[in-house]
Amino acid sequence: MTERSHITILRELLSELSIADSSRILDAGSGKTSLSTIISCFPKASVDAIVYPGDERKINTIRKMQSDKVNVVELDICDTPIPAHYDLVVAHLLLGEASKFGNAFQALLQNVLSIQSRYYIIIDYLEDPKVDADAIRTYCDSVDMKVRKYICAENSEPQVWDDFIGTHNFGFLIERYNTGDG
Ligand SMILES: C[S@@+](CC[C@H](N)C(=O)[O-])C[C@H]1O[C@@H](n2cnc3c(N)ncnc32)[C@H](O)[C@@H]1O
Repeated sequence: MTERSHITILRELLSELSIADSSRILDAGSGKTSLSTIISCFPKASVDAIVYPGDERKINTIRKMQSDKVNVVELDICDTPIPAHYDLVVAHLLLGEASKFGNAFQALLQNVLSIQSRYYIIIDYLEDPKVDADAIRTYCDSVDMKVRKYICAENSEPQVWDDFIGTHNFGFLIERYNTGDG
């Protein structure tokens, strides 16, 4: 089976970053796909894997991966401040789930990009009506962040969801200029 384009995009954007500078990673909205891809690209990194509280769909599969480099954290990103600093925050198919847990897309986007990190990767479906790729770019332009790379790729087999057919995935690699790390 051909790899789904959101995974190919994640790999490609991760390959833009150096292993030496990516030792603390946050998988914001975690699951087996993003976590296993992050671990395979950065095997020595420590990874915090955030899932929405009680989201057993994801918690069980992540725990089964049994990696001593992974720390599973249950919290609502829109509700609980995240004090830690990271080298990279990955939001892989997170933003499309904002409304599933009662959050607004824009609030979740802004909370993710408020987590202290040098780099951010955001990946979603272009056709998802709950996701606004232009709003990601507009928000970055309005704060101290630069879109380093944007990729859009077509799935060889469209992914059928309840409210849309996912023909394309898009991915942003975003860099924050002012990390406050001194
Ligand atoms: C579609 S899954 C994506 C899973 C994962 N990135 C992967 O590739 O397998 C969405 C994830 O986002 C999490 N999530 C959604 N809204 C959240 C929120 N407000 N705070 C924390 N996690 C959230 C869900 O619990 C789930 O882990």
